[in-house]
Amino acid sequence: MTVTKVEVCLTHQTTTHDIEKERKFSKNAEPKSTDLSSQVASLARKLDQSQPVKNILSGLILLENLGIHFVLKAFFVDMAWTPKLGSTVTVSSLMRTFLLDKSHKALLHTLLIGVEEFGVLKFNNHSAETLSWTVTRLPPPSSNIQKTIKLIQTQLLAFPECSTEAEFLNYTGSNLYSVLRGEVSGLEILFPPESSPHYKFGANNLYTNSMLMEHSKTIYIIEGILQTLRAVDPSQEIVKILEIGAGTGGTTVPLLSAISADPALSSRFEIHYNFSDISNFFVTKAKARLETLFPKVHFQYSILDIEVPQPIVAGTGFDIIVAADVFHATQYMDDTLRHTRALVKPGGILILGEIFKSSLFLELSFGMTEGWWRYGDDFRQMDGPLLSEAGWDGVLRKFGFGHVFTVGHGNYGVVFAKGV
Ligand SMILES: C[S@@+](CC[C@H](N)C(=O)[O-])C[C@H]1O[C@@H](n2cnc3c(N)ncnc32)[C@H](O)[C@@H]1O
Repeated sequence: MTVTKVEVCLTHQTTTHDIEKERKFSKNAEPKSTDLSSQVASLARKLDQSQPVKNILSGLILLENLGIHFVLKAFFVDMAWTPKLGSTVTVSSLMRTFLLDKSHKALLHTLLIGVEEFGVLKFNNHSAETLSWTVTRLPPPSSNIQKTIKLIQTQLLAFPECSTEAEFLNYTGSNLYSVLRGEVSGLEILFPPESSPHYKFGANNLYTNSMLMEHSKTIYIIEGILQTLRAVDPSQEIVKILEIGAGTGGTTVPLLSAISADPALSSRFEIHYNFSDISNFFVTKAKARLETLFPKVHFQYSILDIEVPQPIVAGTGFDIIVAADVFHATQYMDDTLRHTRALVKPGGILILGEIFKSSLFLELSFGMTEGWWRYGDDFRQMDGPLLSEAGWDGVLRKFGFGHVFTVGHGNYGVVFAKGV
């Protein structure tokens, strides 16, 4: 993995400039080549002006500010690091001095960039073999760090649209030091068992209750699918949809609810929905639930690892493929997209829920797991597994897709592409 300086979205005060910058993202969603893009972009423009989206974007800025203060707390309060002005720090020196777990090397690197952005460290020569920083300002006293955390937590209460994210970050961020020390794994923090009192702060709650995900991802996936179904040739009797990495059904259920709620669509053709995941656990759990919820849908269930070639003849595949928060987690994007292309029929639509830029919110949660850092290709942005909007456009075109466009808010969004 290349480790050089990367731009990290750290904002220490909420400014109108920052909010405008975030909003610009969905304004870029101008119609390009297909009707689908103009229909989805029109929804994006409408949502852009909505109060929930405006509040979510403001809340996200506060979350980043909270994130950096959790990093400062882990380093300068919990770890009791008292840096001397002018001294040099590297990831290895930190790990050695404070007995941190070696598996968190990449995470520590991004956290140091966060401290650099905060103004405590200055990055030294990019070309040096070992990347290092110089301490150029003393960190705030520990009592101030703690007070600021409390203050931001209070400020966040004014943005109930981000309450799920705030609870999640409060929980993961306060465990950062224990994770860095290797006392507990990131996975244990993210996925507490259902019996644990922490269950309600974990990732499952985020997947189910996040308004941010709903407003920047699910809503667009639904709109994209409804519009695609409306455009299906009236002579077509069956529409085949494949969901990859469907997991707990966080996207499946709202998606099928929206299709079922549109009688014009559900009576026009049969929906054949292939619910797939790499994990047998999710697939088995979904079987019991989905058929009761959606009796008219024809379900198939597959254990599908999209990184492995799929036994299907190209050209006979699915009309629509959906994957929400899955593809960036795969190791080699070229394999993932090659296999996906073989599954979608020419002219079929691929819809990906994705995040286009990393943030402390993500690094202090998913970044605490080894899976976040396991990517092995060169398509990602520096220091993380995510692809920018331009990155998705490039890589999708390279692997047999066209008509690529993205919509979303605050770095969270959806990529649409057509099998060509
Ligand atoms: C973040 S969850 C998203 C779940 C679901 N798409 C949603 O929107 O709620 C990612 C899912 O991708 C699955 N997954 C991870 N790697 C995969 C792979 N190589 N192929 C297929 N699914 C995968 C995981 O098991 C998990 O269920």
